[in-house]
Amino acid sequence: MDATGLRSAGGRGGSPGTGTGVIAGWGTALPPRVVTNRHLEAFLDTSDAWITERTGIRRRRVGGTTAELAAEAGRIAIAHAGLHPSDIDLVLLATTTPDRAVPATASEVQDRLGVRGGACDLNAACSGFVYGLVHAHGLLALGLRRVLVVGAETMSRIIDGTDRQTAVLFGDGAGAVVLEARDAPPTLLGWDLGSEGSAAGLLSAEIGGMLRMDGPEVFRRAVRTTVGSARVALERAGVRAEDLALVVPHQANLRIITAICERLGIPLERAATVLESTGNTSAASIPMALAAAADNGRLVDGDLVLLAGFGAGMSWASAVLRWLDPGRAQRTGTNGAPR
Ligand code: UT7
Repeated sequence: MDATGLRSAGGRGGSPGTGTGVIAGWGTALPPRVVTNRHLEAFLDTSDAWITERTGIRRRRVGGTTAELAAEAGRIAIAHAGLHPSDIDLVLLATTTPDRAVPATASEVQDRLGVRGGACDLNAACSGFVYGLVHAHGLLALGLRRVLVVGAETMSRIIDGTDRQTAVLFGDGAGAVVLEARDAPPTLLGWDLGSEGSAAGLLSAEIGGMLRMDGPEVFRRAVRTTVGSARVALERAGVRAEDLALVVPHQANLRIITAICERLGIPLERAATVLESTGNTSAASIPMALAAAADNGRLVDGDLVLLAGFGAGMSWASAVLRWLDPGRAQRTGTNGAPR
């Protein structure tokens, strides 16, 4: 406690920093229970063929709590970055399925991990992780050193198992990255965050209620807004779509991803996808797809990457990143000096 009595025991703050945000580590977590399309055929008027053809999804994982999944993904990301939880200044948890109304699920994640910095939730639905990453870059510019950005969801808790529109789509999971201040050229080259609250009714759940969706209208808007937002972020970054090494789109439906890539003029092979085995995991989908791409060696130092999310709100978020190999970008000391 400082003389004013205002400083918390574990909080972190700072004065404007000098480093640039580098993704220093990443991790994912999935609950063990697998629900295949065949399982769903047993109690829904649907078929494996329909789900696979119309969505690209073959199975999804179900179970756990948002805090458990977020903490597991976060633990892996922190270890992958070669850090200790006490090195983390803030846990920023993007989720649309918090475990309770109060307190923030991020507080439990912070406690489970043994992080001594701050913690808060951010709800921008399926765009949440990209919103979180952009916010984290801003916080590094204000002096924080390391932010754990997590997207974690237990969508199964708000899915009506009798509603075939939504029950076939969603799954549970988490993905996390450690964004760390380094002495490196800028990595967030352009970004765009948006919301159209007047369309909120197209995809929503009341507190304690189930998710309801106008699937076809959400589909149309998903393609339109993601393409528009991606173009804005690319233009701000001064990057041409054809120069992107990888696109990491929200994992809602393979047909949406295909349409987005077509309209942006990007070959589908450059899109990172995990939805075949995860379903739509809302805020967790982009960090999970990013982590899978990085683990599979699809990202090399200097690559240009587009992250593009859309979802309830309706919300959207795009970010154009220059991927830096975390082993090469130099760590900074507390005052911005290399260490
Ligand atoms: O992450 C948040 C954002 N969410 C999304 O991005 C979801 C966006 N929407 C979608 O992905 C798609 O709209 C769905 C996958 C939800 C639905 O696919 P669709 O191609 O838009 O189908 P539709 O609703 O236009 O329905 C086409 C047909 C209909 O039958 P008829 O009228 O042609 O005989 C539906 O009743 O498919 C039928 N149908 C199904 N059949 C089997 C709708 N859902 C199902 C189903 N299984 N689960």
